[in-house]
Order: sequence, then structure tokens, then C-alpha cells
Amino acid sequence: MHYTSDDLHDYKERVDEATDAIRDEIDQPPAIGIILGTGAGALAEEIDPETTLSYEDLPGFPPSTMEMHEGELIFGTLEGVPVVAMNGRLHLYEGYTAHEVVFPVRVLGTLGIDTLLLSNAAGGMDPHHDAGDLLLVTDHINKQGTNPLIGPNVDDWGPRFLDMSEPYDPALREIAEQTALDHGIALRKGVYLSVKGPMLETEAEYRYMRDLGGDVVGMSTVPEVIAARHMDVRCMALSVITDECLPDDLDPIDVEAAMAAAAEARPKLSRIMKDVVQEIGTTTS
Ligand code: HPA
Repeated sequence: MHYTSDDLHDYKERVDEATDAIRDEIDQPPAIGIILGTGAGALAEEIDPETTLSYEDLPGFPPSTMEMHEGELIFGTLEGVPVVAMNGRLHLYEGYTAHEVVFPVRVLGTLGIDTLLLSNAAGGMDPHHDAGDLLLVTDHINKQGTNPLIGPNVDDWGPRFLDMSEPYDPALREIAEQTALDHGIALRKGVYLSVKGPMLETEAEYRYMRDLGGDVVGMSTVPEVIAARHMDVRCMALSVITDECLPDDLDPIDVEAAMAAAAEARPKLSRIMKDVVQEIGTTTS
């Protein structure tokens, strides 16, 4: 599909319309956005909610699919710090375009967030990592064959040629690492390689992705980080390793084991997210 100036004009109008609708419902827009990925649902429960808005009730939001039926924005406080959490994200494999995938991020950027904390579930390709480990994303490789900046640029949002020399904010990464140390949490570090999905990969594909430089592989996050960086929003991302993807020792995916691994990582993920939010909240307010 090709995006014309008219398409992008309509898209931006939808983003502005959704943002206005949200402004009517909340008092003060928060500075911090959080994307709750697979395995981060528990963190949603730790937010003290003030206003919860379902995607389907907001004008302009992409229609939901079976996978993403409960998408909502939760406005409230985490550790006393105002945040907005995206509970439910859109994926390319559901059939959305990259522009639609990042629609909620465009809305949060327009609303005025300056920080986006993302989480996701990913397959581990580094043989030193185990299922249940938590990984701090240091960089990414986009193998999705698309991105949300294709088509005419919306100059109000950001530059045509976006710099991506440091997509994951060093200061936020530092806070995450310090938090992990303070709590005795083993925090891996590595490169997130994104694919479209929805199928998992073949042995040959895992070997290829590892050779390319990926430490973990997943089906989200990268489009959202690109859109956020385009709007000059700083980003931090944590991956929950749900399964081990070693080409020379590959087992069929065991969904229950992957869920158990996500559950193992959940408290660690919540702890780090909460401390990062608290640290940013105290340094900026
Ligand atoms: N591949 C892609 N995405 C994933 C995987 C994987 O092996 N595991 C969890 N998300």
C-alpha cells in the first residue's frame, strides 16, 4: 500500500481527534507512557487508575481484532507518579499497517509524553540466556520489511530522515541497570530483532537472525520506538524471554512453558518499571 499526502492528512486528523477526546476526559496529561506487552499485565494492576479509556470508545482508533480485544489506555499513577499505560498493543501480524500499529503512540506523543517505557515478550537467541530472563534492549534491528515513517512525512511530528544512532535512551538504561543491581535482579542486555510474525521461525531463520546480530527476536516494539523517536520521545524497552531459540537445539514451541517463563519474569519487570518511573518522577518534578 502507498501512503499519499491525503492519507497522511486523514491519519493525522484521526490522531488529533483521538487526542482531543482524551484531553476532554483527563485533568493533566502525564509525561510518561508505558506499553504493557505480553507478561506485563500484572503491572497494569499496580497502577492506581484515574481514568481508563477503551480504544474502541476513542474516535479514530483502529478497530480491534480478535487478538487485541481489550485495548485500553489507563491514566493514573504508578508509585505516585502520573503515567499513561497502553494495555494492549497492535501488531503487524494482526493485519494492521505500520502506521496503524503506532496510532496509539502518535496519540500519546501528541498528548505530550516525553518518555515511553516498553515491554515485550521475545525469543532468546543468545545461548547464555534462559527462558524467564529479563533483557534490557540496547539497540534493535528492524527485519519487519516496513516502518511507520514510510510515505509523506508529517513535519509537525518529526524529521523526514530520523536519526537512529541511539534509539534507547542511555540515561534510562542506566537507571534500569542500577535498579536491577539494587534488587539483585539479573538483567541481560542485548539487541532486539523484530519480525512481522505471526509464525515463529525455522532453525535456519534463527541461525540467520543470530548471525545478523540479534540477541532476542519478537514481533513488536520496533515500530513504536521509531514513531516515539520521530516525536522526540525517549525510549526504554525490556524484553521478557519466553522461549529459547537455539538453532542447533530447537524444540517446538511449548506455549505453557512460555507462559510460565513470562510469569517468572513478571515481578522483575514490574520492579524495574516501577523504579524507573519513580526515579524519573523524582528527577523531573
Ligand atoms: N520469534 C518471534 N517472536 C517471538 C518468539 C520467537 O521465537 N518468542 C516470543 N516472541
